Amino acid sequence: MVTEFAGKTVFVSGGTSGINLGIAQHFARSGARVFVISRDPAKVDAAVAGLRELGAEADGMSADVRQYDQVKAAFDRCAEVFGQIDILVSGAAGNFLAKAENISSNGFRAVMEIDVLGTHHVMHAAYPHLTKPGACIINLSAPQGSVAMVGQAHVCAAKSGIDMLTRALALEWGPKGIRVNSVSPGPINGTEGQKRLVPDPAAVEERINSVPLRRMGTVQEVADLCAFLASDKATYITGTVIPVDGGTTLNPTPT
Ligand code: HXC
Repeated sequence: MVTEFAGKTVFVSGGTSGINLGIAQHFARSGARVFVISRDPAKVDAAVAGLRELGAEADGMSADVRQYDQVKAAFDRCAEVFGQIDILVSGAAGNFLAKAENISSNGFRAVMEIDVLGTHHVMHAAYPHLTKPGACIINLSAPQGSVAMVGQAHVCAAKSGIDMLTRALALEWGPKGIRVNSVSPGPINGTEGQKRLVPDPAAVEERINSVPLRRMGTVQEVADLCAFLASDKATYITGTVIPVDGGTTLNPTPT
């Protein structure tokens, strides 16, 4: 049993599926107590059960990151169950592939509200709980935050917004001892984001050939970066946006 994060509490928004669940599982396997939120109560129950099967203390609550009162209630519940929070992973995100002229006002708003407003909500609600030495925040970004991609105008706007929130709060909260970083996963095998971005299976090979390392990444590779950033090996790292993308941002989607 790995105990690197024993005694630490990790809160993961969007932590019931995909990359975020993989991150939650990694922290669980590393000894942390884990609290997950997402919109679907059934997915929360399933994720919590799975985390407990890994031997972790785990709990969760259904909450929509767009609704501040729901987010605050989740942090209150997490603090009640586990005490103070050490590590916040803000992973809830929304995405669909659409050319800018086909994105309705509501569609653009949905992605901005889930990604940018949602990230603000979880960081804001986490703040009073992040009082222990070593407290840190990891925001899930994407290459769209730094390179333009066709069909992703709304996501480019949202993820770059998240990256600037990371920098702004690293600046404001550094004196409080809270480190804030973004992790930016590229194409990660088997994830919802990847399926949405490359829905045609025939196009997957072409996508892989555009990645300098010529393969998709794994959820574990993203979780490993998050664990490093949350560890005592990264105590002087804040305000950064770190890609885990096989070099994807060097060679964005050629569409
Ligand atoms: C155009 C679309 C659309 C599409 C939805 N909309 N899908 N417009 N093309 N393919 C529009 C709808 O028509 C609607 O506008 C508006 O978006 C809101 O849709 P709802 O379904 O009512 O909203 P909601 O239930 O809140 O869903 C939000 C969502 C949805 C973002 C649209 O996809 C979602 O919940 N996603 C969560 C899971 C997810 O996206 N995971 C992937 C994250 S990956 P109108 O005008 O009709 O009312 C990621 C990083 C990827 O973020 C990076 C990888 C490299």
